[in-house]
Amino acid sequence: MQTVTPFSPPPRLLLGPGPSNAASSVLAAMGKPLLGHLDPAFISMMEQIKGMLRKVFKTNNEMTFPISGTGSAGMEFCFVNLIEPGDDVVVCINGVFGMRMAELAERCGGKVIRVEAPWGEIIPPEKVRTAIKEKKPKLVALVHAETSTGALTPVPEISQIAHDAGALMVLDTVTSLGGCEVDVDGWDIDAVYSGTQKCLSCPPGLAPVSLNARALKIATSRSTKTQSWYLDVNLLAGYWGDERVYHHTAPISMIYALHEALRLVLEEGLETRWKRHRENHERLVSGLNKLGLSIASQPGHQLWQLNAITVPEHVEESAIRKCLLEDHGIEIGAGLGPMKGKIWRVGLMGDSSRPEHVDQFLEALKKLLATGGIKTTP
Ligand SMILES: Cc1ncc(COP(=O)(O)O)c(C=O)c1O
Repeated sequence: MQTVTPFSPPPRLLLGPGPSNAASSVLAAMGKPLLGHLDPAFISMMEQIKGMLRKVFKTNNEMTFPISGTGSAGMEFCFVNLIEPGDDVVVCINGVFGMRMAELAERCGGKVIRVEAPWGEIIPPEKVRTAIKEKKPKLVALVHAETSTGALTPVPEISQIAHDAGALMVLDTVTSLGGCEVDVDGWDIDAVYSGTQKCLSCPPGLAPVSLNARALKIATSRSTKTQSWYLDVNLLAGYWGDERVYHHTAPISMIYALHEALRLVLEEGLETRWKRHRENHERLVSGLNKLGLSIASQPGHQLWQLNAITVPEHVEESAIRKCLLEDHGIEIGAGLGPMKGKIWRVGLMGDSSRPEHVDQFLEALKKLLATGGIKTTP
């Protein structure tokens, strides 16, 4: 008989682009005994989750709940329900996740009008205005916090431009939710999605979403059936709404974890939590400056929760990441696409965003940059 020893993960400080470290009470919640997904006790807990998500998203939208799946499932949920074949859609692209949006919109049969900005910069509202003048799109999709580059695009003006043209505004808040201001009703966002594993500090596996009445009307009065059975809001509403009919078996333990993670977010208070993210970002930037390093993304629009650090020319990017992980137990992320080899992505998200973690990272980085342990190219 072949025996396999139980898996024991090595200790890690997660300072990458996600997942972030989860609080021990969130992890403990996942170990609680299972309930059936239609058990009244479970259902009343689901109601609390909906209420807490509304507070975190700052919305009164009735249709607010977590999709079973990661952030990409939330993205797919919005597009698959709102786009019908042949629809014109504007997708803003300034990094990997804008590109993913365009790919998904095309798979839904949408005719994508791309509004592009250089990676690391924000989407200029005038570019959206120009794109919208040419065609009246059904929706405008924007990534609030581009995790691949560390840029935070301001939303209200773009949302106004979309609505003036009669389009819906769809917003990706996978990295922003819980780490900086997200105001779904205040910014008049029609469809929004997020993920659990970043600033909410819950393991990956759920995608909180919210649709307002305008978006819901479009999703429920389509002329074609939604291409995805699993993500069809008309069916999901039967389980997360008043009817409580079986659609798919809810991931019970993940939902326990989200309940605890949201409880902690609200216990801390949204504004206090954003402030904590800002202060730890500032602590990191000041420490980096002392090491002669700086943030690569557009000044004035740099994310607090994802710091894109320019790799000095003489340093081998991947060697530092490897040493940080293997010798110091610290995970950070690499650059993607055109930023590959040029930046390190340091996440200070949710529970990982603490002054002692910033100091631990800076100390380790300083040592690695000072020792000749890294291969350097002249
Ligand atoms: C901005 C953004 N959108 C979408 C996603 C996709 O989320 P997931 O990897 O959880 O599917 C990510 C993941 O990093 C992200 O950062």
